Amino acid sequence: MYTIYDHNREAWDELARQQIPLARPAGEKEFAKPQFIINPSGWVDFEVRGLRVLCLAAGGGKHSALFAAAGAETTVVDISPAMLELDRRLAAERGLKVNIVEASMDNLSALPLAHFDLVVQPVSTCYVPAVAPVYREVARVIAPGGLYISQHKQPVNLQASLRIATVGYPLLEPYYRSGPLPAASAGSALRESGTLEFLHRWDELLGGLCRAGFVIEDTFEPNHGDSAATLGSFGHRCWFMAPYLAIKARRKATAPSGQKLLVR
Ligand SMILES: C[S@@+](CC[C@H](N)C(=O)[O-])C[C@H]1O[C@@H](n2cnc3c(N)ncnc32)[C@H](O)[C@@H]1O
Repeated sequence: MYTIYDHNREAWDELARQQIPLARPAGEKEFAKPQFIINPSGWVDFEVRGLRVLCLAAGGGKHSALFAAAGAETTVVDISPAMLELDRRLAAERGLKVNIVEASMDNLSALPLAHFDLVVQPVSTCYVPAVAPVYREVARVIAPGGLYISQHKQPVNLQASLRIATVGYPLLEPYYRSGPLPAASAGSALRESGTLEFLHRWDELLGGLCRAGFVIEDTFEPNHGDSAATLGSFGHRCWFMAPYLAIKARRKATAPSGQKLLVR
């Protein structure tokens, strides 16, 4: 049976071939200033050298290479072989050690339990129908006390029209919806063409983390808004609604009720 996972794997393989910005590996500029990936919000208050880091749904040769270059014991998981190939190639070119795992973010059974000190996930939960299984899997593979830093598309960003109308950006999609969103037109900086994306509600994004055994320590909305931007442009739309939310969460040292605590 052909699933949404097959669809998104092929879509991301194609986006990697097209070399969209999200599929551009780190270059000299990024290696010179890796903080924008390793610690964009200043939330990692420890040295990553020697730590076990999981870059989740982070293929493309940016996250894995920069963490490995900073001395972390690095694993990257992604569903797209073409995105992972970028990680493999860059690691080989730079002599970096990266563990590369092809898997879906909601099934991390290939990874060891309670293992990672830090899990970093760029915007990607929009590509799976449910976020709870992702959180459940991260809770299994992260060490007690480990830090989980993830970024997500805000629901309103996926509800609102990508194009400006006479009254601004109308809400076209209901909040309480299910199934994939209608395909986005090519060329939008806010949607990745060819992929199937899903809206996750605030309760699922935030409450879901708590229910999976995490404590939310902080949140951050990257500000892409520009009050002077041309009507209908990326910066203009972002002036009206924040597209993303980053979440800093810590795995509780005690297990959620009814579950056994995993200790490494
Ligand atoms: C935002 S991009 C990756 C990060 C990117 N290299 C960057 O520069 O930030 C999102 C990634 O999610 C991956 N992806 C989509 N569905 C997935 C799934 N079910 N499991 C794991 N990875 C998935 C895509 O292949 C893609 O590499």
